[in-house]
Amino acid sequence: MRQAEPICSPRQLELLANKVHRHLGLDFSGNRRADLLRRLRQLAEKQDGEPSLWLEQLAFGDWDDAQIQRLIPAFTVGETYFRRDPEAFEWLARQHLRPLLQRRREAGQYRLRVWSAACCTGEEAYSLLFMLDELLGGERERWTVELLASDINGSFLARAEQGCYGQNAFRRNEEAFRSRYFQAEGNAWRVRPQWRGRIRFLQHNLTAGPLPDPRSSLIGVDLILCRNVLMYFSAEHASAALRGLQACLSPEGILLLSAVEAGLASQAGFSGFWAGSNYALAAGGQGPRPLPAMPPAVAYEPTTSAKLERESVIEPPAVPVEPSREQLWQHAETALEQGRHELVRTALQAYLAQSGLTPNQRYEACLLQARSWAEQQRSAEAREWLQRAQALDPAEPQAYWLQAMLARHEGDVPAALQALHKLLYLAPECPMAHFQQGLLLRETGRRQAGDKSLRRCCRLLQDEAHEPLQFAEGLGRDQLRKLCEQLLGDEPCPPS
Ligand SMILES: C[S@@+](CC[C@H](N)C(=O)[O-])C[C@H]1O[C@@H](n2cnc3c(N)ncnc32)[C@H](O)[C@@H]1O
Repeated sequence: MRQAEPICSPRQLELLANKVHRHLGLDFSGNRRADLLRRLRQLAEKQDGEPSLWLEQLAFGDWDDAQIQRLIPAFTVGETYFRRDPEAFEWLARQHLRPLLQRRREAGQYRLRVWSAACCTGEEAYSLLFMLDELLGGERERWTVELLASDINGSFLARAEQGCYGQNAFRRNEEAFRSRYFQAEGNAWRVRPQWRGRIRFLQHNLTAGPLPDPRSSLIGVDLILCRNVLMYFSAEHASAALRGLQACLSPEGILLLSAVEAGLASQAGFSGFWAGSNYALAAGGQGPRPLPAMPPAVAYEPTTSAKLERESVIEPPAVPVEPSREQLWQHAETALEQGRHELVRTALQAYLAQSGLTPNQRYEACLLQARSWAEQQRSAEAREWLQRAQALDPAEPQAYWLQAMLARHEGDVPAALQALHKLLYLAPECPMAHFQQGLLLRETGRRQAGDKSLRRCCRLLQDEAHEPLQFAEGLGRDQLRKLCEQLLGDEPCPPS
């Protein structure tokens, strides 16, 4: 890994990590420490004066509200897009909202309160608004629908209020969706007037704001979405935030998290349930359907060929009634080898719902799930899981490799090169990354640059430390060197 010039002492970094944790709930311990340092460095370099002095003051000084507000943008991740998880929206419409609306109709109560917590720049909240309007159809005027959306980052909220979005907010092939709800404005798309001003955006820190909060209508909520944020929190802050959020639910309300946040809920003592591929908590702590220790579908029989292959080596493990974390992991890996993707998903769900998983274990689970989606040619889902992995550990190269391979498979060479570029920043001595970079550059007509990457790969291959080769999937060092030499016109590999 490339080492940056020290900009603050380990003691200062420790103090800064503690402060970010205390005030924002964000966990920059372990592997994420390097990411904290990178963000602090960028922040310090934007200040007037000597960056290291500024950081020293930040580490030893007190942080008041104004200081926290100034720092928030540096530590928050603005990754979101419209209908980020279509399956979640479908589940919500079918299993939660439609029946709830019907019960309210029957009781003559035409009210609904919905909250997108940690809404970022508003894509999730608008997606909810559009979905609710569709569900209510001609009855819309009759209902009082309150849609609240909160985030800690005031500049994200200001963008959300404007409702004006670039291409990056629309990641799926959704021309019909975009033209229905948005109008073109230069290179961007603005939410059409009939949907503007219908969401109340408010600033709220999930680790500090008291909940429930009747003054802000954060109480009696029928649906809370809090997704892809608690995964950045430490277990203790996630647990406190979950307790607060759950206390805001109406008796029929649910709180929807992402799958990767299921373990944080279990660790905090909540018993939730799977809402399709996502994890939900009901009001009062108990999910209507308690999480099965291991869904029966995972008790698979290996396919004959895989079974034969394995029988000569080891006995296939008996499937216990309540598998351990290790057994669940093994099930997921074996199911992936066998191409049994539904089983991969169920085993990983059960794994992710285990309490006490480390961020690294969650990272590995995200990667495995991404691989499974990629093998099913479901690129959007694979990308989503890769993003989760990268959020959990931005300094780990493996996710960038998969991202590059996925982009390459889709024919998106610039995206593949960008992912390889990030990988090489983190692991500059990775022969396979140089090799792939060389191939892609040559494919796009940049022969000289491509050859340079291939020569670099060759040079690195002289070093025996690169056996086995990372990301080579069975390809040996000598084979790769021969490939490079062939591509370079039988030019022998340069000495190291
Ligand atoms: C990756 S985005 C997720 C956005 C959206 N929920 C989604 O799933 O697409 C994470 C959001 O959490 C917000 N956030 C981080 N820490 C927070 C905190 N302590 N309180 C409230 N929001 C926070 C960030 O500002 C960012 O907008």
